[in-house]
Amino acid sequence: MDSNLSGEMNSSLPIFELKNVTQQFGSFQSLVDINLQIQAGDRVALVGSSGAGKSTLISLLNGTLLPTQGEVWVLGRNLAQLRPKLLRQVQRQIGTVYQQFHLVDNLRVIHNVNAGHLGRWSFLKAAASLMVPMDVETAFKALAQVGIPEKLYERTDKLSGGQQQRVAIARVLVQNPTAILADEPISSLDPERSREIMDILRQLSQDTGKTLVTSLHAIEFARSHYQRIIGLRQGRILFNTPAEALSDSMIEELYHLSR
Ligand SMILES: Nc1ncnc2c1ncn2[C@@H]1O[C@H](COP(=O)(O)OP(=O)(O)O)[C@@H](O)[C@H]1O
Ligand SMILES: [Mg+2]
Repeated sequence: MDSNLSGEMNSSLPIFELKNVTQQFGSFQSLVDINLQIQAGDRVALVGSSGAGKSTLISLLNGTLLPTQGEVWVLGRNLAQLRPKLLRQVQRQIGTVYQQFHLVDNLRVIHNVNAGHLGRWSFLKAAASLMVPMDVETAFKALAQVGIPEKLYERTDKLSGGQQQRVAIARVLVQNPTAILADEPISSLDPERSREIMDILRQLSQDTGKTLVTSLHAIEFARSHYQRIIGLRQGRILFNTPAEALSDSMIEELYHLSR
């Protein structure tokens, strides 16, 4: 890794900082003048109705999207000013899991987990590993951390939704990023599986000190599993509060769209 990048990661700079960010799609503004800092090790939940701008914000944090106005700083770098190679290096420090898992269904679990090495492994090594899996031990360890080591050689599409989300998290663990983003990771899961995934994400963040930013519909999990809660409404931050200070009236206002 670039030495400046690792140097900055040890400093007290925020992991993420948005400065006056507005995100425009055509004439529509999905985020409006967002200012936000997320510090190393923070566990932050993003809440708000469908269309509030949660996924847009996650895409800005991992550099999938560059803002139409304002600046997104990740690990002390303004993403819009990075050359492609350095941008990829910064992006490798950010792991993302999604509602729909984004796994390759017809591959065995180990290959999906090993995809966390992509960008670090050469193309040839990655291709060879599809025939004879490499670094089985790292993949096994990551699967053990999410509670399904025995699924290493299972076909991915044989697994339940909750197990597939665990595979997606194991892939992020192999990537070993500084921060984990999760975009509605439990919206496709039943309540019991949802709780398990919430527990795993919280535990990982606590054990490793990784920053965790999760968008959620379930306010109760935001309260119980996160330290800070950011409420988005129609592209604006309505509140950014310690979890224990979130009141019922704030939640009511969050889902009250007619104002
Ligand atoms: N690529 C896009 N093109 C056009 N509009 C978009 C795009 N992405 C998001 N939007 C719009 O921005 C708003 C916020 O979307 P999103 O960030 O997905 O919200 P959330 O994740 O909170 O449901 C929505 O109205 C959505 O239709
Ligand atoms: Mg979304």
